[in-house]
Formats: sequence, structure tokens, C-alpha cells
Amino acid sequence: MCGIIGVTGSADALDILLDGLERLEYRGYDSAGVVLIDDEGISRVRIADGTHSVATLRKVTPEADHGQPAGIGHTRWATHGHPSERNAHPHLDCSGHVALVHNGIIENHAEIAAELVAAGHTLASDTDTEVLAHLIEDALKTGLSLTEAVRRVLRDVRGAFALGVVSMDDPELIVAARRVSPLIIGALGGQSFLASDIPALLERTRDLMVLDDDQIAELRPGSIVVTTIDGVVVTPPPLHVTWDVEAAQMGGFDDFMTKEIHEQPQAIADTLRGRVDADGRIVLDQLDLSDDDLRAITQVSVVACGSSFHAGLVAKYAFERWMRLPVEVDIASEFRYRDPVLHENALVVGVSQSGETVDTLQAMRKARESGAKVIVVSNVVDSSMAREAHGVLYTHAGPEVGVAATKTVVAQIVALELLGLRIAQVRGTLSADEIATELAALGSMGAIVAEAIARDDAVARVAAELADAREFFFLGRGTGYPTALEGALKLKEISYLHAEGYPGGELKHGPLAVIEPGCVVVAVATGGPLKEKMLSNVAEVKSRGATVVLVVDDGDALAAASGDYVLRVPAAPVLMAPIKDVVPLQQFAYHLARARGLDVDRPRNLAKTVTVE
Ligand code: F6R
Repeated sequence: MCGIIGVTGSADALDILLDGLERLEYRGYDSAGVVLIDDEGISRVRIADGTHSVATLRKVTPEADHGQPAGIGHTRWATHGHPSERNAHPHLDCSGHVALVHNGIIENHAEIAAELVAAGHTLASDTDTEVLAHLIEDALKTGLSLTEAVRRVLRDVRGAFALGVVSMDDPELIVAARRVSPLIIGALGGQSFLASDIPALLERTRDLMVLDDDQIAELRPGSIVVTTIDGVVVTPPPLHVTWDVEAAQMGGFDDFMTKEIHEQPQAIADTLRGRVDADGRIVLDQLDLSDDDLRAITQVSVVACGSSFHAGLVAKYAFERWMRLPVEVDIASEFRYRDPVLHENALVVGVSQSGETVDTLQAMRKARESGAKVIVVSNVVDSSMAREAHGVLYTHAGPEVGVAATKTVVAQIVALELLGLRIAQVRGTLSADEIATELAALGSMGAIVAEAIARDDAVARVAAELADAREFFFLGRGTGYPTALEGALKLKEISYLHAEGYPGGELKHGPLAVIEPGCVVVAVATGGPLKEKMLSNVAEVKSRGATVVLVVDDGDALAAASGDYVLRVPAAPVLMAPIKDVVPLQQFAYHLARARGLDVDRPRNLAKTVTVE
């Protein structure tokens, strides 16, 4: 998730770009850059300075500003290519006449890059984006206008994009285009603008238009023409914004947690994007493990903390089923101080959204020292773990601001399941048909999660009924167990209420003693072979006076009848069920925290990245 911005026809182009980039920093800040353009040429400034990238850019850009009336800008959340000035946008073609900014992922960039290099182009970055500048360069050489060149190129690329493109041939013009990634445009008083999101433009205009998929906009000073990819002129519906900047930054949601819960379908789609080739082969190109390496694996060990540990626990069920290998999942702070037995051909998988959690980093180091192959599932490109591991599997959830992990957890489960299927594919423990079925199921999870999210009102009503409760137990069996752990953790973190997560079968071995009237038991009783057993556990707690909230699949009237309250979710295969079953639990925690007047984005005593023991 990056942020892009563009302006043409303004005496303050640079200020507009920099102010806009500041408003877009929530979309990423690995690097920032601008291009200013006029008849004299293109001036480009790029900075990779982490959280200070935009501020540093502001300090150094005045030298490049000669009053150019047009420009484009970018703030980056790295996905392809580590965070560095070399990989910062805007990217140029070979001649330096074309510059562009991009938010999204070009799935077929590797094959395009190979063709471009064979044809004599020089690529100056490791990004997926840069190929677009060179493709446009080639299209312009055939005599096409910039708009037509962009149109032609977009027919050949797969993936997601929001683009702003400028060329020396027509320096007043910015061509904007969109597929999947968001893009808004607007014109006012002789100026025209584009941006990834509303906050970037709110100080300039409140009257905007939202580009639709496969639409291309020609922005000239004060005028905009929008066409479809086939060249048909269209008029996008107008959008008049009444919110203030802070609210707009949260996309109209009340807080980042709600926004990030709503971004989960996108996080799933982006994590899956480009990872299966035309032959059905799963491509995890930064894993750096050969097929022979994968075939040689004899054991898998997952190390992680907190919610990432729960994602690892979900993966255990899938890994064992699909790979037929022994799988251990360890809390990293325990693993690092134990004397774990790792065979020579062990695969150790660190899971961490930040890629910086010190316990997970140290556990991975320990595993490396013992000779195991070590990879990490991380949401942050070039994090410490990503640099130190043998290979990386990035989740593409975009930056997560809320301290309580939501979208990164579902993206981790998706990434881990892709890894499990890849290993099963190479080892031959699943047939091609079975792999295709599982991939199709993973592919449908985004829509299922969107449906689950849309039921927020029902969850809010249950939370309101239980607003006075103080003791919560979350129960689950099979993949419902890590879901229960995650539900309890979310509730503890943001509502400061006491919550325990337990496997349903463990109840009678102790915890049942504390169940009494007033206790709320949230039980994950969605489909799967253990559902009946889960319902027996529910009967046990009900008979001791607990109030029961059941998470059940749509249409399961039998299960629903066992609960005092019911949260319904769409059904999904059991190995993927946590991806959607966790949604009402996130919402439940959210509403109980809000009822207590708490700041859900910044819970007390906690930090987003835990770099201390
Ligand atoms: C819970 C949460 C934490 C993190 C844990 C690991 O909502 O956010 O439990 O999951 O601190 O963090 P990462 O994934 O960055 O290693």
C-alpha cells in the first residue's frame, strides 16, 4: 500500500505534492519522492529515510523547485525491492523523459523485465513498477500520445495499479489510471489533481471523482477527461467530501482498527496476488528455497509471538494435513531459551508482521545457528527478520496503525497456507486437483471475509447486551482453538477485560471450576468434524450458568440453538475457517472496548513493535 499524488496547473505544485504526501504517510513511509516537470525538463528528488522520508524530502526539494506547474509524488510501502532511494518512486524510462508513480503490484513484472532487458532497456531499480515506465517509453516511440501509450501498456499488465504518469513530450499533462488500487481525481480553478486517497487533496478541493477500474484520466490544468480502457469517454460520479482531514485519513471510519478490519479482504487479495502462475504452480519467489530444499524438509517449526503465534497455530493444522510432516509451533520467547531439537533439514518459519519483534528475531537466529533453513513471513519489507532469514514470504496487508493486529493476522494465515500448499506441491503430498481446490478456496476467502465484516451491527448488538460482563472464556477445537486464542487476546488488549482462550476439550481438566453465572463463554462452533464435540463443551458451561455466545456458520440452526447469543458467519473449509471466524471476534472486542470508552488504536501498556524482551 503506497500513496500517490499529482497536480498540474499550479504555481504551488511542490507544496501541494508535499502536503499531500504528508497526508498519505499512513499508507507507508519507506521512501518518498517527487518529480516536477515543465518545458525545461524533469527534476526528480527521492529520499529513503523511514518514518522521516516525507519530512526529509520537504527539506531538500526547494533546490529542485523552479516554479514548475506540474508534478507527481509518492510515499512508499515497499513490496518489491527493499526500501532504498534506488527503489523509491517516481521511476523513469531509459531516456528520462517519462516519469511515473504507482500504488499496487504488477504481477507479471518479472517476465516483462526479462523482455525489456533483452530488448536493450536498462532497469535502475528492483521494483515491479519500473517496467511500466519502459513499456510506455516503447509505446511512445511508435508515435502514440502519452494517453494512448498508457492505454496500450495497461492491456499487457496484470495486477493492481493506481498510476500517475508524466512525459516531457507534453509536460502539462498527467495521465492517471486505475485497476483495483484506489484513485481519486479533481479539478478546481485552473488546477487538476490526483491522489490515492481523499485526505491528500482535502485542503485543495472537496469536489472529487472516484476513478473506476480500467479507467484512464487525462489531467490538464483545470480540466479532466476520463475514458475507459477501450477509449469510451465516461463521467465518474461526483463526490463531495464533508469530513475533516483526520476523519478522512481514516477513510471515514472512526478509528484505524475499524478501517483495518475493513481492509482485510484487500489484504487477502494482495497477499494472494501474483503467487500462482498460469500452470497452477505456486510462486513464492523470495523464499530462496529450491524444490530440492523443499523436498528435503523433515520437520517444520514455526516461531512467533502474540497474534502471529496464533496465525502459526492455524497453519499447523494446514501444514500437517497438506505436507504430512511433523510441525511444531512455538512462542518465540520460549523457543529461544530452550534447547530445541532441529534436524539438519528442519525448516524454521518466523512469523511477524513487523519483522522486528526481538524474541522472534532471536529465535530465528538460534535456528540459523543450528543449521536449519530459516524463512520469515513478514509484512514489512527489509525488516531485520527479512534481512537475516534465508528467505522471505511477504504478506501484502499494507501498514497497520492500530496496535491490535487485525488485517496482518489474516494475511499471515493466507501467506502460511500458500507456503503449505507450495511445499505440498513440490513434495507431491497433494495432487494437482487438490492444490487447485485449496487455492480456489483461499481465493474465495476475501469475499467471505467481506460478508462477515458487513455483519458488524449484529455483533455490536450482542456486545451491547454483554457490556457489563467482566469474565470471558473463548473456546474452540481444531482450527477454532487458535481462533479462540486470538479472540481472547483481542478482547484483553483493547478492552482490558479478563479473557482466556482454551481448547474446548481442556475445560474439564481445570477451567470448568471457574465457570459460574456472570461468566461469558464465546465458543467457535463453525463447521468441521469437531463441531458436535464443541457443542457438548458448550452444554457443560451452560449447565454451570455461563452465558454463551456462539460463532456458527450460516444455516446451522442446530448449533445456533445452543447459544444465548449467536454470531453468524458464512461457511468456509475448516482449514481456512479462522480467516473469517476471527472477524466477529475482532468486532466483539472492538464494541466492548468502545462501550468502555477506550482508545482501541492505542491500548495502554502496549506497543505496535516490541523490540525489547
Ligand atoms: C496482538 C498483537 C501482538 C503481536 C505480537 C507480535 O494484537 O498485535 O500480539 O502479534 O507483538 O508482533 P509481530 O507480528 O510484529 O512480531
